[in-house]
Amino acid sequence: MEVCMAKVQIPLEKFGLCVITGGSSGIGEAFVNLLAVRCPECRIINLSRSPLGEIKGTNNNIHISCDLSNDDSKKSAIKELLRVIEEDSGERKKLLLINNSGFGTYDTFPDPNLQSQLDMLEVNAKAPLWLTGELLSYLRTFGGAILNVASIAGFQPTPYFATYGGTKAFLLNWSLALAEELRPQGISVLTLCPGPVRTNFFKSAGFSSPPVNQWGGLTPDQVATAGLVSLERGRNLLITGWNNRLLSFMTRFVPLRWIGRLSAFVMKKMRLEQFQTNRT
Ligand SMILES: NC(=O)c1ccc[n+]([C@@H]2O[C@H](COP(=O)([O-])OP(=O)(O)OC[C@H]3O[C@@H](n4cnc5c(N)ncnc54)[C@H](OP(=O)(O)O)[C@@H]3O)[C@@H](O)[C@H]2O)c1
Repeated sequence: MEVCMAKVQIPLEKFGLCVITGGSSGIGEAFVNLLAVRCPECRIINLSRSPLGEIKGTNNNIHISCDLSNDDSKKSAIKELLRVIEEDSGERKKLLLINNSGFGTYDTFPDPNLQSQLDMLEVNAKAPLWLTGELLSYLRTFGGAILNVASIAGFQPTPYFATYGGTKAFLLNWSLALAEELRPQGISVLTLCPGPVRTNFFKSAGFSSPPVNQWGGLTPDQVATAGLVSLERGRNLLITGWNNRLLSFMTRFVPLRWIGRLSAFVMKKMRLEQFQTNRT
């Protein structure tokens, strides 16, 4: 049996089309801004609930309103997306698909409410699978790459972030497996695993203050830049930050049943004041 180990390396300038989810904020917005500078000819199509902010130097972008937790919204968005791509595909453009949308909630399951946990599963795990499935035949025909934004939370159980960590563990393993399936077809798949990043993520997750200073977080720009460099090099996994790389490496040597406990200890520390209040 032949195993294909050759990396698929595509210079950013070769992409004529980028489909991104969650380009309206944080890491996604940084990707959009960087791509607009690096490949001004690339048409960027964003799927999220709120539109893109102002992007310097280009008006080549399209926003398709889409709530990725809602089936009806996804159905009408994919219809519009395929129509826009069809209009463009005469030029045989290489496609960069960035599955970036995601959110978490910091609480004991199922708080703040069960629906938020189910929506998280839809947005963080099912939406990347759905969008990749819908665009795969285009990728096979015209070539391209996929960048999935997972998280270091995917490397271990994450108590108080249980559903979030579960969705990212799925995305991490699914995406790495997909990389092996698609490499022989000339499609590269990068799984990007950031640690804490200074975005709206923590506010919407329910943190009173982001644990970013304490844990040494990167900016969205640094994460997106590192992601695009790794994509160009044809890598399949990027964990940003040496401390996050070390942590995810060390978890391999600790039995899984202990990791959950250790992780609970660390996660509690992130919002210590709440648990102190609860204890009194
Ligand atoms: N910040 C971190 O510390 C960190 C660490 C590791 C991984 N990540 C991952 O990085 C990705 C981007 O997060 P971020 O840090 O940039 O946070 P952010 O600033 O809160 O951005 C989240 C993005 O996801 C989109 N989104 C959320 N719910 C959605 C829905 N129902 N339908 C469509 N889009 C939705 C949002 O767009 P709309 O609100 O406009 O819909 C927004 O653009 C996420 O997958 C997150 O899990 C973040």
